[in-house]
Amino acid sequence: MLEVRGVSVRYGQGAPALTALHLRAGPGRVTAVVGGNGAGKSTLMKAVSGVLSFDGGRVEDGAILLDGEPVHRLGPTALVRRGIAHVPEGRRVFADLTVEENLRAGAAVARKALRTRLDESYAMFDVLARRRRQRAVLLSGGEQQMLAIARGLMSGPRLLLLDEPSLGLAPLVVERIAALIARIRDGGTAVLVVEQNAAMAFSVADEGYVLEQGKVVLSGTAAELRADEGVREMYLGGSGTADELRRFADRAPLARWSA
Ligand SMILES: Nc1ncnc2c1ncn2[C@@H]1O[C@H](COP(=O)(O)OP(=O)(O)O)[C@@H](O)[C@H]1O
Ligand SMILES: [Mg+2]
Repeated sequence: MLEVRGVSVRYGQGAPALTALHLRAGPGRVTAVVGGNGAGKSTLMKAVSGVLSFDGGRVEDGAILLDGEPVHRLGPTALVRRGIAHVPEGRRVFADLTVEENLRAGAAVARKALRTRLDESYAMFDVLARRRRQRAVLLSGGEQQMLAIARGLMSGPRLLLLDEPSLGLAPLVVERIAALIARIRDGGTAVLVVEQNAAMAFSVADEGYVLEQGKVVLSGTAAELRADEGVREMYLGGSGTADELRRFADRAPLARWSA
């Protein structure tokens, strides 16, 4: 349903942040894009959700297609209406608003069935249900991330974009977020997640991509990427726990991109 086709992005006159990027995401699948700091992960998310121009960026080349239709000239409001929700990096919840007020803010374009959406949200996130009257600033980091994701779901998206949901969270909380992502996917939503945490991303993903300096350097099924020697060294070796690495034991050949 989402196809990023040969997209290049530039901010101002700087070097390209993305170069000829190809990527697909589809319903009921988790697609993970893994890369280090500055690889272009957030740029990709902003291009897909239509907020790139707010940061002075533009799609210079290629196209972003939603169900075969080009959408890269549309703004964020139109894209939310078409079913794209973007949960940005750094879980920007409204600190002084309550949990429920944060959720209502996410539903601004979907006034209809607000109560139903809230009920669905509380059914999925019991921690938010218990704390619905509390200000968001009082939540833990993990709870704030859950609130940010729940708020993204309030618009009833077909495609959910998650920008580094594991950032700064303890391993146990990261596992909970991963389980949550799997649940959202199992509900039929397409999930596109970008992460520095390859262990987390490739544990929950169906397919994945490795992004370096704005280019896709590797792609494959998540199992293939977990087994890739280069990925293990670069992204799993240093930070992966013994347990994580054991889960990534199976080996498989891999499609290499020649950029
Ligand atoms: N608003 C901006 N203006 C100019 N350059 C930017 C801006 N945002 C990001 N960049 C540049 O684009 C590249 C990719 O950044 P980003 O997409 O934020 O990477 P990541 O999310 O993978 O850390 C980096 O070189 C970064 O310096
Ligand atoms: Mg980023």
